[in-house]
Amino acid sequence: MESPTDPPRFPLDIDIGAGEAVYRQIYRRIRAAILDGQLLPGARLPSWNALAAELSVARGTVKAAYDWLAGEGYVVALGPAGTRVNPALPEASRDPAPDAGHAALAGDGPADEAAGFPAAWGSAARPFQMGVPALDVFPRKLWSRLAARQATRLAPAGMVYQDPAGLPELRAAIAGYLAIARGISCTANDVLVTSGFAGAINMITGTLLAAGDRAWIEDPGYGRAREALRLAGATIVPVPVDGEGIDVAAGVRRAADARLAYVTPSHQSPLGMPLSLPRRLALLDWAGRQKSWIVEDDYYSEFRFANRPMSALKSLDGEGRVIYVGTFSKVLLPSLRLGYIVAPAAEADRFRHFAAYLMPSPSQLVQAIVANFIAQGHFGRHIRRMRAIYAARRAALVAALQEAFGDKIAIDLQDGGMHLVVHLPRGMVDVEIARRAAAAGLGPVPLSPWSLEARCGPGLLLSFANILPEDAPQAARRLQRIIRAD
Ligand SMILES: Cc1ncc(COP(=O)(O)O)c(C=O)c1O
Repeated sequence: MESPTDPPRFPLDIDIGAGEAVYRQIYRRIRAAILDGQLLPGARLPSWNALAAELSVARGTVKAAYDWLAGEGYVVALGPAGTRVNPALPEASRDPAPDAGHAALAGDGPADEAAGFPAAWGSAARPFQMGVPALDVFPRKLWSRLAARQATRLAPAGMVYQDPAGLPELRAAIAGYLAIARGISCTANDVLVTSGFAGAINMITGTLLAAGDRAWIEDPGYGRAREALRLAGATIVPVPVDGEGIDVAAGVRRAADARLAYVTPSHQSPLGMPLSLPRRLALLDWAGRQKSWIVEDDYYSEFRFANRPMSALKSLDGEGRVIYVGTFSKVLLPSLRLGYIVAPAAEADRFRHFAAYLMPSPSQLVQAIVANFIAQGHFGRHIRRMRAIYAARRAALVAALQEAFGDKIAIDLQDGGMHLVVHLPRGMVDVEIARRAAAAGLGPVPLSPWSLEARCGPGLLLSFANILPEDAPQAARRLQRIIRAD
């Protein structure tokens, strides 16, 4: 009999001559063995040396695959005790006990303050303003060249009604990008181009929800999602988040029969931690058993600084329960108003039907420019460049805040995104501080309105995207003067 301490015996089936990098093949095979139950929680993996010798590859190749698996929570490195499958991974069919007494709550909190909307539409980004990418480094020249080319080439075929699901070239480019960057296997057919996040959530609720259906939202969580679900007639069920993201067991206790769960797995909005692998699997397990839907909002996935971004939850979606939502607002510009969803293949026709009647995709001209931008390789380069710029701006702002505030504030430094979460001393009123900061031309967002039942304030969300490293000390001091006056 095999004990959990034996190294696994399953064929790794690596093809050295294949186009796919060997470390990636090792990662994928071991990941599949864990997900299929061939490798049980606690099982020991072969040492780097042993596996490298067995496969005739370099030790570093195996290490890279193990690091990746460890980064995503599939395995844990225990030093001399070797590498083991994460013992915290859930059993496939564990049934959490229902919490009979807890009724679902209708949420109607201060969603606007947790939406991160700017103080005035169309205003230039103020220091700390959330949700706006670094405007000073947007590749304007390249963009105008591509835009001019599309405009001059406009033929009669581009002047008439177009596919409501979106420009085929853009949908294919998105599917290709998601396969490489987010581990999602989908076709252009499953992709629908939307008018940003609002278009995506509108299309999802219009296609899949009935009035009164219960919907889990993260608490604290994104106000725009909360309010959009409420406007669509859903009954909001706040589900607490902790250091591993949404507490799935708590969600099941509160409303096991919810039709939908809205989550931000790559970077919890607003706190920033990724959803742990055990929670991912538990969420998928719940949705699969309940035949419910998971909306995966992957708004920030491109920007990770220390570690490789974790693959999307959608990449684990064997049963077609996840609707993936992406946006071009963070990687390009919010004013493009371009986002997209990846529908489960079995539902794509329903989504296309909804799009044709109620939500055709936005301007073809803009879609064509973006499709071209991706096809010519600019998109990947732009993301890499922005990642380096954000890493520098983030480090500069952290240093400046530490200099200005000392230990009076606590910076919760998560790996990724475009903003910092700063916790203020108890008793401070973050909403009031943010209001005064706005009057002084700054754009921090208060943290406390992001929660319904959970307590997560007082604190501030501070974007570093538009603060140049040399301006960070001054911005931090301006904020410090406002907070000191509290
Ligand atoms: C949590 C979250 N999801 C999605 C989005 C993207 O929204 P949109 O595509 O409308 O710009 C944002 C933007 O700030 C966000 O914070």
